Amino acid sequence: MNMLITGGAGFIGSHVVRRFVNNYPNYKIYNLDALTYAGNLENLSDIENLPNYFFIKGDILDSIFINTIFEKYRFDGVIHLAAESHVDRSITDPLAFVKTNIFGTVNLLNAAKDVWKEETSNRRFYHISTDEVYGSLGKTGLFTEKTPYNPNSPYAASKASSDHFVRAYGETYGLPYIITNCSNNYGPNHFPEKLIPLCITNIIQNKPLPVYGDGKYTRDWLYVKDHAAAIDLVFHKGKNQETYNIGGFNEWQNIDLVKLLCRLLDQKLNREEGTSLKLITYVKDRPGHDLRYAIDASKINKELGWRPSVTFEEGLEMTIDWYLENQEWLDHVTSGDYIEYYEKMYNEKETNQ
Ligand code: NAD
Ligand code: DAU
Repeated sequence: MNMLITGGAGFIGSHVVRRFVNNYPNYKIYNLDALTYAGNLENLSDIENLPNYFFIKGDILDSIFINTIFEKYRFDGVIHLAAESHVDRSITDPLAFVKTNIFGTVNLLNAAKDVWKEETSNRRFYHISTDEVYGSLGKTGLFTEKTPYNPNSPYAASKASSDHFVRAYGETYGLPYIITNCSNNYGPNHFPEKLIPLCITNIIQNKPLPVYGDGKYTRDWLYVKDHAAAIDLVFHKGKNQETYNIGGFNEWQNIDLVKLLCRLLDQKLNREEGTSLKLITYVKDRPGHDLRYAIDASKINKELGWRPSVTFEEGLEMTIDWYLENQEWLDHVTSGDYIEYYEKMYNEKETNQ
C-alpha cells in the first residue's frame, strides 16, 4: 500500500504519520507537507529514518506537482490533513484559507480522480474535517452527522466548502471518500497559538493568559492520539461515501479550562496555589465567536467501536509534562531556529526514497 498523508508535519498529522509508520511496516507512508509556520519536521524526528517513511516537501496548491507525485507513486490511499487551521488567522487573512483549504483540496481530488479512474476498488480519499462546519450550538444539543452545515468563521467556511467538494467528487465521479468531523484536539506538538498550548506556555513563562470575551465559550476536547486512533480505524474499517463525527465526550467552558491549567501547572512547578490564576486576562472577543461545540460520536462508537481511551485528566497531565520536557521544541517553533533545522534536514535528505 502506498499512502499519502498530507499535512503530516503539523500537529494532528504528525501523530497520524507516526501511528501509521509504526503500525503498518508494510505500507509506504509518504508525508507531503509545505512546512508552513505550522509544519515542523522535528515532530517526526523519532521516525524519520524508518524505511517505510518518506517525506516530500510540497504545496497542495501546486497542481502540476500534485499530479506528478500521484502519477509517480500511484497512491492507494490518501489521508488529507494539510490545511490552514487557526480561526484567528482566518479572520485576518481569509484568502489564505480559501487557497489552501479549498483549492488545495480540489487539486488533490483532481489528482486522485485522474489516477484512480480505471480502478477505484481498494482506493480511498479520507478527508479530515472539523466540527466547526456545523456552526454553533446553543446551551444544549449535540452535532450529529445530519446537522446542517452553518459555518461562521472563514476557517469553518473553507473547511465546509472542502467537505462539499469531497462529497461532490464522490457523487459526480464516483471517487471513494470518507470524511470525519472532529472536535478540538489537544496534546503534544500543538502549535502554541491555540488555547491549551498557549496557556501552558504562558503559565510557564509567567505571561498573561488571554481569555476572549466572558470566557463562557464551550469546546469538546479530545486527546490527539485518540483522534489518530480514530483516523486509523476509519481509514481501515469505515464505509466509503460516509461521514463520521469524532469527539471527546468532554465539554469545558474556556474559563474553567484555563483555571484548571493554572491549578495543574502551579502543582507541577511547585508554585503556591492560586499563583497562575492572577495571569488570567479577559481580552476583546473573537468576532463571530461560536458559543459551543459538542459532538455526538455515537455513530463511530456503534459502527466501529471507537471511543476515547484517555480521560481529560490523564491527557492534560501527559500534555503538560510534554511541554515541560520539550522547552527546546517550543523555542524552535517560536523562533527562527526551526528554519535552520529544516535546511539542514532537507539538504541532507531531500526525500527518503
Ligand atoms: P496544523 O496547522 O498544526 O498543521 C497543518 C499542516 O498542514 C502543517 O504541517 C502545514 O505545514 C501543512 N500545510 C499547510 N498548508 C499547506 C499547503 N498549502 N501544502 C501542503 N501542506 C500544507 O493543523 P492541525 O491542527 O494538525 O489540523 C490538521 C487537520 O485537522 C486540518 O485539516 C484541520 O482543519 C483538522 N482539524 C483540526 C482540529 C484541531 O483541533 N486542531 C480539529 C478538527 C479538525
Ligand atoms: O473544533 C475544532 C477546531 O478546534 C479545529 O477545527 C481548529 O483547527 C482548531 O484550531 C480549534 O478551533 P478553536 O477556535 O475552537 O480553537 P482555539 O484553541 O483557537 O480556541 C479555543 C477556544 O478558546 C475558543 O473559544 C477561543 C478561545 N481562545 C482562544 C485563544 C487562542 C481564548 O479565549 N483565548 C485565546 O488566546
